[in-house]
Amino acid sequence: MNAIDHLIRIIEEIARGNYSNDIMPLTAEGQPEPVRTLAEAVGTMMVKIEAREYQLEMMVEEFKVLNRKIKENTIKTVSAMAHALAARDTYTEGHAERVGDLAGRMAEYMGLDEEAVQHIRIGGVLHDIGKIGFSDLLFQAHEGRNSSDLVKEIVKHPQVGVEILRDLDFLGPSLDYVYAHHECLNGKGYPRNLKADDIPLGARIVAVADSYDAITTDRPYQKGRDPEIALDILKEHSGKRWDSTCVKALEALLTQRGVISPCP
Ligand SMILES: [Fe+2]
Ligand SMILES: [Fe+2]
Repeated sequence: MNAIDHLIRIIEEIARGNYSNDIMPLTAEGQPEPVRTLAEAVGTMMVKIEAREYQLEMMVEEFKVLNRKIKENTIKTVSAMAHALAARDTYTEGHAERVGDLAGRMAEYMGLDEEAVQHIRIGGVLHDIGKIGFSDLLFQAHEGRNSSDLVKEIVKHPQVGVEILRDLDFLGPSLDYVYAHHECLNGKGYPRNLKADDIPLGARIVAVADSYDAITTDRPYQKGRDPEIALDILKEHSGKRWDSTCVKALEALLTQRGVISPCP
């Protein structure tokens, strides 16, 4: 192979991303001057390209680490907010985390992608954050015995939640789930009386997880019910209040985890 053909082969290899020392003999004394000049220029180019590729690989790795840290910090920020609410309301202690966890698992079960699952989990953790602005009286109030003034304050919490979280860009669609977690399929929910598909799927999932957790948890005015009873209640109102696909996903998940027995 003559020197020019050799040089062309090396350039083709560089174009394919294969860098080697094969160019070195072409820069040696004894090679015709034009070949040496060309070979030295190609060799310098190859070293520069290789160095840039290495830099780019390093940057990609750094971005991956940064991205992971941002995600971890997002979770920590969200958990800190949920704990801030828990400090005011003992019932909420654990409720936010459980709803976030259950809603995330339901979303996973329903085949949603990783990012959607993450947003639904965060929406679940933060769904009641608007209660942080409640008066102390409200935290002491018992269900069924709230005055109309207190009820008016209660129904504001999805809106208050959105106002608290609005500037946190990383929450993305989670904000919609906080806003719509008390909407009902039949339009009788609050605060916007949204109907059916107008309610974001993430909010419909959070609503089911929230209600299931509320029914099964001991509260000052109510003993927590068994999972089977909670599921019966959800099923009875599914299609009207709750999304039946989400209720079915919950049932399948609880069966899978051995929380309830499979249907005979
Ligand atoms: Fe709520
Ligand atoms: Fe809740």
